[in-house]
Amino acid sequence: MKVAFEVNGKSAEAEVEPRLSLADCLRHTLRLTGTHVGCEHGVCGACTVIVDGAAVRSCLMLAVQADGTKIVTIEGLNQPEGLTPLQTAFRKHHALQCGFCTPGMLTTAHVLLSEEPDADAGRVREVLSGNLCRCTGYIPIVEAVLEARAAYRKK
Ligand code: FES
Ligand code: FES
Repeated sequence: MKVAFEVNGKSAEAEVEPRLSLADCLRHTLRLTGTHVGCEHGVCGACTVIVDGAAVRSCLMLAVQADGTKIVTIEGLNQPEGLTPLQTAFRKHHALQCGFCTPGMLTTAHVLLSEEPDADAGRVREVLSGNLCRCTGYIPIVEAVLEARAAYRKK
């Protein structure tokens, strides 16, 4: 089946099997390998991308379901002039080690802060509770997201 969507601001089309997940479509068909795949059943959050403004587990969504949507992956959260405030905060707080969970952490946190730039620590923990990190520990991750709030308040 043919699907067409916007990915990171550009039109994209792909010929896909109806059973292909959005995660595999992004990684294997469109070669956007920044989206990671861990559990493949909706538990770890590593595959989180932004679909029409919502944080979505791309392993649980079929590519055909994304037809006509606007998708932002971790590649689309970059900015040419350097690290984003959220990325800068992650680096400052050592909020990653192996980096496997990081794309999902950043996309999830970006949606949260875009909608709730005044989110408190409890709310950040609640939202990130669906994103598993097996090596960093969550304290630096939460600290980084809290620090990045200031940049989102200015938007
Ligand atoms: S790979 Fe999608 S939630 Fe784990
Ligand atoms: S940084 Fe390794 S899983 Fe989170």
